[in-house]
Amino acid sequence: MSAPVERGELRYEGKAKRVYATPDPQQYVVEYKDDATAFNGQKRDQILGKGSVNNAITSALYPHLERAGVPTHFIAQLSEREQLVRAVEIIPVEVVVRNVAAGSFSKRLGITEGTLLARPIVEYYYKSDVLGDPLINTDTAISMGWATDEDLSTIKALALKVNAFLTPYFLARDIRLIDFKLEFGKTHDGQIVLADEISPDTCRFWDAVSGERLDKDRFRRDLGNVEGAYQEMLARVTREQA
Ligand SMILES: Nc1ncnc2c1ncn2[C@@H]1O[C@H](COP(=O)(O)OP(=O)(O)OP(=O)(O)O)[C@@H](O)[C@H]1O
Ligand SMILES: [Mg+2]
Repeated sequence: MSAPVERGELRYEGKAKRVYATPDPQQYVVEYKDDATAFNGQKRDQILGKGSVNNAITSALYPHLERAGVPTHFIAQLSEREQLVRAVEIIPVEVVVRNVAAGSFSKRLGITEGTLLARPIVEYYYKSDVLGDPLINTDTAISMGWATDEDLSTIKALALKVNAFLTPYFLARDIRLIDFKLEFGKTHDGQIVLADEISPDTCRFWDAVSGERLDKDRFRRDLGNVEGAYQEMLARVTREQA
């Protein structure tokens, strides 16, 4: 953890985090909350300790991703719930990478959850709470001016690089990385960086041995022991490797 940073005005408040200005216009403080929502805000509750777990997991993973060649917004973990990040303009396209069929993909295409995909699939969703984050394609994003063709090529390559790093990283911790959602943003000088978080809120993690779900599906599907699953994921991420 680093020295305290003066927190300025609240810039954005989402369902899981608050973003604050700092004295440096190119830096924000992100504060992770325990609030959880699912099904576009229809289901709401708190998951005790989630904010600190998601902060700790993201703070552990992003420096590894930087070293693997993925530029990120992460600067430092400031406290149990806070991170210092680079201020970016978020590209309103959520990027989902899938290794195994699950969730909306299984539902939409009638493919049994757990079916291994022949190669990773990258999907794009328009980041819009009012519309419920609808599935789009790259032509839509370009035509609407949400991202350029070049931006999308960069984003796809980075998303696959994240997947190529994280899949073996988690497997070494007995976790199958089923799918995950990423957000990218542009810094003041136009660099595309990985923003937001990577956590049990934004990934599907299945125990490699038991198949037990260790992610937000425990909350979405009322599977119980949600807090325990988040703590278990933090323990696996921070586990020393032999
Ligand atoms: N480095 C960053 N600079 C600016 N905004 C960021 C940065 N990292 C994340 N954000 C944004 O902070 C907001 C709050 O995060 P949170 O996860 O709570 O949002 P959310 O409830 O998922 O809602 P939504 O993502 O739909 O706005 C999000 O809009 C996210 O895109
Ligand atoms: Mg979010």
